[in-house]
This record gives sequence, C-alpha cells and structure tokens, in this order.
Amino acid sequence: MRTEFHSILLAKMKDVGEPRFNLAHERLFNIIIDADEILGAATSGERQLTSEEWSSLSTVCDELVRYTKIHFMEEEEFLISRGYPDSERHRVIHQNLIEALNSFQKKVTQCDEMNLKEMRRWLLEWLLNHINHEDYAYAAYFSTKE
Ligand SMILES: [Fe+2]
Ligand SMILES: [Fe+2]
Repeated sequence: MRTEFHSILLAKMKDVGEPRFNLAHERLFNIIIDADEILGAATSGERQLTSEEWSSLSTVCDELVRYTKIHFMEEEEFLISRGYPDSERHRVIHQNLIEALNSFQKKVTQCDEMNLKEMRRWLLEWLLNHINHEDYAYAAYFSTKE
C-alpha cells in the first residue's frame, strides 16, 4: 500500500509534456514503491530480509529493470526523432542509470547483506531525480518550440 510519504514523492514528479511518458514514469514509480515496501518492512523492524522477501524483491527488481529499459529506449527514440540537441547526453545518462540498476539487481539476486536503508534511499531517488532534471529539461526545451 502506498504511504503518505509515497504520495508526497509522486506529487513532486514533474510533468514532461508527453502523456505516455508521464504514464511510464508513474508505472516505474509504482514498481519502486513495491520494492520500497519490502525494504521498509525490514528496515522498520531493524532486521535483515527474509528469504521470501529477497525473492519478492528480486521479482520486483527484474520488472523494474525490464520496464526501465523499455521506457528509456522509447524516450531516446522520441528525443532523436524530435531533434532534441541533448539527445546523446540523455542517452549516456540513461546508460549509466541502467548500469546502476544492473548492479542493484545483482546485489538483490545474491541476497547481499548491504545497507538496506541506503538501498531504499537510492531506489526512491534515482527516478525522481532523473525525471525532474533531465527529463524535465527536454519538456522545457520542447515547450519553447511549440
Ligand atoms: Fe530520461
Ligand atoms: Fe523518462
């Protein structure tokens, strides 16, 4: 279930001017919330994850990586087709995020006893930061062209 904190974060997510991308962002955010709930259950009890929780987290994480790749590809194609001058830099930023997600996924697959609180923070931050800065930059650019 979404907490008030999750709703506050979602409300901070900027509109990027393309309805299908806004929907994709919300879908990604919802997947992250699923992961956050699993991590939250452990961090609030100051304990490690159980094996069932690791396995649920792994399923959620696979979906997050899968759908992030799809969204990034669609966004990159869109930016190139619309002649966005910063397309290449945006693609590289996406690539770096995929690498960070892949290493996160690897840790989850290995049930790495890492700092769960840090893991939670990173998960909640990367998407929102990207949308509100880099994605918002293309929205701002295109809005001046219309
Ligand atoms: Fe992006
Ligand atoms: Fe995006």
